[in-house]
Amino acid sequence: MKIDITNALKFTGEKAYAKSFDYALMQMETLNSGSGAGNEFLGWINLPQSLTEEDIEEINTSAEIFRKLDAVIIIGIGGSYLGAKAVIESLSGSFDRDTPEIIFAGHNLSGEYHAELIEHLKNKEFGLVVISKSGTTTEPAIAFRLLYSEMKKRFDKETIRQRIVAITDAEKGALRTLADKEGFKDFIIPDNVGGRFSVLTPVGLLPIAIAGFDIYELLRGASIAQDICLEKNSENPALKYAAIRNILYVAGYKTELMVNYNLKLNYIAEWWKQLYGESEGKENKGIFPASVSFTTDLHSLGQYIQQGERNLFETVIFVNDNTNAPVIPSDDDDLDKLNYLAGKDMEFVNRKAFEGTLQAHIDGKVPNILIELDSIDEYSIGFLLYFFEFACGVSGYMLGVNPFDQPGVEDYKRNMFKLLGK
Ligand code: PA5
Repeated sequence: MKIDITNALKFTGEKAYAKSFDYALMQMETLNSGSGAGNEFLGWINLPQSLTEEDIEEINTSAEIFRKLDAVIIIGIGGSYLGAKAVIESLSGSFDRDTPEIIFAGHNLSGEYHAELIEHLKNKEFGLVVISKSGTTTEPAIAFRLLYSEMKKRFDKETIRQRIVAITDAEKGALRTLADKEGFKDFIIPDNVGGRFSVLTPVGLLPIAIAGFDIYELLRGASIAQDICLEKNSENPALKYAAIRNILYVAGYKTELMVNYNLKLNYIAEWWKQLYGESEGKENKGIFPASVSFTTDLHSLGQYIQQGERNLFETVIFVNDNTNAPVIPSDDDDLDKLNYLAGKDMEFVNRKAFEGTLQAHIDGKVPNILIELDSIDEYSIGFLLYFFEFACGVSGYMLGVNPFDQPGVEDYKRNMFKLLGK
């Protein structure tokens, strides 16, 4: 992974950036020494290098059992689903996927969605992975109750026991009580890892392994990122990213658009939005994280980005891989006037669209941070996830907030419970 901030520096100036970088270094110390706010939630920092061979094998063994089924439903919301969804979507084929079918549930309260899911599962052999750190979140709890009840109608007790895995706290919460009582296989979410930083625990690893991906490679990428992100030098990508986005924020760029040129990265953006939005959006501060997928959204939001309110900056993820790109054929009639592209592959066109857009947006006064990946595979995605997590910790401390709590998430729940008569 490479990060290029040249086209953001044009807007901030080298001097201000250098100052911001020094501050990022200081805040990295705060993070690493565990002396900052929320320091009881720093378990994620060492996750890639602390998981043992046995931990990974235990996850792979459980995954194997689930891989024989027609469908596996991953039940969870927020940090208990976005990491898995992001990795699975980025690594899966767009159309043809291996069995089992991976379905997410409990990440919304739509009655229609869950009714259609129950119908969809009617003749399928399915299993459930239910994930909740608190073990009390309403959305996944309702989805689990519904699907568990469907299971009880169709499968015997022993089959059900083999087809449910709970991922939750070691001791607390309703899901822990239920898992112990019913004898479900379980994995523990460490106390010191918050939901949005939990993708490299069983929360993300088990669903990713069930989907057939190599979690060793994912962790290897994250582990290399861990080494690099801890280096105290000016090339540290996490410090660069934290430093530049904070100085842009101070200069009035309050919205960060994560841009991709490959639809498979859409859910990486969703995961990133939760990571940064929940970590930094507090005390009336914080960059608003948003996302677009190009070139699709150039035909919708492109107008706004080019000429709307000037408070945006972009972080583009571009993948330099044309291995599977179809070559544009020549056509004798050339009625569509595309013969000038004949013999070029589609990623060549995608890259030119990216280069042209980048320049247009810079001309339109949108600063740009560029992240380039060589390919989308387990290794590079593992690297990317850790890089964003580490930069988020540093960036939150630079902003002066506790990046590891989420007090605002409780407010809607209080109102909802009151209205529900809880
Ligand atoms: O990052 C967070 O802490 C939240 O988004 C949680 O992950 C989300 O609310 C789900 O919580 P739980 O895993 O306790 O069900």
